[in-house]
Amino acid sequence: MIQPFQALVTCPAGFEFECVRELERILSEKDEFVEVEPTYFKGVLVVRSDLDPEEIVRTVAEADTDWVARIAPIHRTVRADLRSIVRTATALAERRIPEDATFAVRCRRRGDPPFSSKDVEVEVGDAVRKATGASVDLENPDYLVWVEVLQDTVGIAVTTPDMIVSKEVKRVRKWAPGRRPINRSQLKMRELLKKHPYLAREGVDVIDLGAAPGGWTHELAPRVAPGRVYAVDPGDLHPRVLKEHDNVVHIRKKAEDLEESDIPGTVGLVTSDLNRVHTEAAKVTLDVADKFLEPGGFVVQTVKLAVDPETGEYAAPDVETAVTETELEYERRGYEVVAVEDLKSNTPNERTLVARKI
Ligand SMILES: C[S@@+](CC[C@H](N)C(=O)[O-])C[C@H]1O[C@@H](n2cnc3c(N)ncnc32)[C@H](O)[C@@H]1O
Repeated sequence: MIQPFQALVTCPAGFEFECVRELERILSEKDEFVEVEPTYFKGVLVVRSDLDPEEIVRTVAEADTDWVARIAPIHRTVRADLRSIVRTATALAERRIPEDATFAVRCRRRGDPPFSSKDVEVEVGDAVRKATGASVDLENPDYLVWVEVLQDTVGIAVTTPDMIVSKEVKRVRKWAPGRRPINRSQLKMRELLKKHPYLAREGVDVIDLGAAPGGWTHELAPRVAPGRVYAVDPGDLHPRVLKEHDNVVHIRKKAEDLEESDIPGTVGLVTSDLNRVHTEAAKVTLDVADKFLEPGGFVVQTVKLAVDPETGEYAAPDVETAVTETELEYERRGYEVVAVEDLKSNTPNERTLVARKI
């Protein structure tokens, strides 16, 4: 049984999951049950949705996307044999292409089905011409008969050329060699250090709490070298982090369990991106800073408006309240709040707080 799909999307190979997430985020606003799936073919995704195929295309075309290279609507999905393709494409064309219009057939063939793209284009072209009376115009057609072959499955659309939408892939070109971040969190640290470059000076030792998978550590390590980054997290670091920096020490512990013997001496910076409610995160971070941060040293903490697992409710009414409560706690414990940043890379429920130990 073929599982029908309503749009086919291409993206750069290796970024399929980023593109799936991006499309689900965009399309779920209109269809909460939308499914976007990678296929066997690199850089090819299918969209399953109750939305009209053209509406899917328009929605994605209008959205600000990073990963989508091309999107096409799909009206019918059939088995990959030439007769089924011709029959279905012709039936669709009869409904959509008027006699006085022009059309062209375009086939993208992936896998190894027993026919070529040319076979499809010639046979479907002949059949559609006879059935509709429309004429072929390969250069500037009014309609496209669009055929996407994915080995055993074929998606077909009869549509206008403006519905086959190509978009600029922003993310892949965005990173110069060696600048591709480990994750989105790394961008927060990158952005913060642009505004507050004094935080990560050469030779400064850092404790990074809740470090895994290592975006912050990865951003900090080359800036503070030969200073060390003590990455504290029971979870794994991304292999690139340990491979690319010999000044990173992974301490597989919870922040609360850090002992004097884990870190020789004091550090100049404590960073904290713990996924805990803001009050707990502040307490744990400040306990570590009290013990290991030298006077005049800095603390960076993400303040997150998060759901308290014990009550099932948000730990504060809004992120501003979470920030105020965190600021008060820092001041109570003898730290001066230097800045609260609303970074572009922060989610709407996050702020980044910078403080100094007095
Ligand atoms: C949002 S992630 C951090 C992402 C990280 N800053 C990066 O750039 O990759 C939150 C991390 O906090 C860790 N975490 C939560 N509670 C912790 C604790 N008590 N001690 C240490 N790590 C903790 C989790 O294991 C998780 O890896």
